[in-house]
Amino acid sequence: MRKKIVAGNWKMNKNCDEAEELVVQLVVGLKNLDHNTDEIVLCPPALFLQDVTLKISNSSKMYSSSQNCHTHESGAYTGEISAKMIKSVGATYTLVGHSERRMYNHESDEMLATKVNTALANGLKVIFCCGESLDIRNSGNHVSFVTTQLQNSLFHLSDSDFKNIVIAYEPIWAIGTGVTASTEQAQEMHAEIRKFLASKYGQAIADDTSILYGGSCNPKNAKELFSQTDVDGGLIGGASLVASDFISIIQSF
Ligand code: 13P
Repeated sequence: MRKKIVAGNWKMNKNCDEAEELVVQLVVGLKNLDHNTDEIVLCPPALFLQDVTLKISNSSKMYSSSQNCHTHESGAYTGEISAKMIKSVGATYTLVGHSERRMYNHESDEMLATKVNTALANGLKVIFCCGESLDIRNSGNHVSFVTTQLQNSLFHLSDSDFKNIVIAYEPIWAIGTGVTASTEQAQEMHAEIRKFLASKYGQAIADDTSILYGGSCNPKNAKELFSQTDVDGGLIGGASLVASDFISIIQSF
């Protein structure tokens, strides 16, 4: 049975005090709260990852994630953070392939395949992000674009490694724009992704893989999006920065 996951990508937001305030509000707010989400994943800036991980360590269903990891395990890469370091502070996941990193840091599918390998080799699970631009959506090639991203960066993995992958479909045109994919657009793409995973890994593994939606997901639209057959949760940006909004999204299953 695949897990229902709500992940909050804080991106480059919050200072130290604000990050602490948010995580404490979430821990307190979620304590004893009835909800059907299996995993709540917080992706703070790397600087606050250890503190956030410690603060959620006694909370059920709460996990932490890095927003990125390096291709190499260690070495002369000034300013970078390795999967080994992320694992050593107790985080469970790392994001790989967010469109903002693909765009601003020129991360190629091949580089992301290496990041996935390094993350898995160091015991992290991966939330792998994919998604098309508006131009590609308008050209009608969105499904083949996204499945090619998955093929290039993930399809070298063994069945057992693939079980540590969560997919996040984040159409670039919906990120931070207030324009959400319609429930039909989200369901269509998620179903296509699952079909594509089944073609490589078989139906059982595809059915067990959580596929999250990201892009202007908020307390108002989360319930409808999460009600779609192949939408197993969300990767939330802006709305994850306000505790009450994020908790409301967590309660949307
Ligand atoms: P928004 O929810 O702010 O659109 O961001 C989505 C996202 O990029 C999460 O990784």
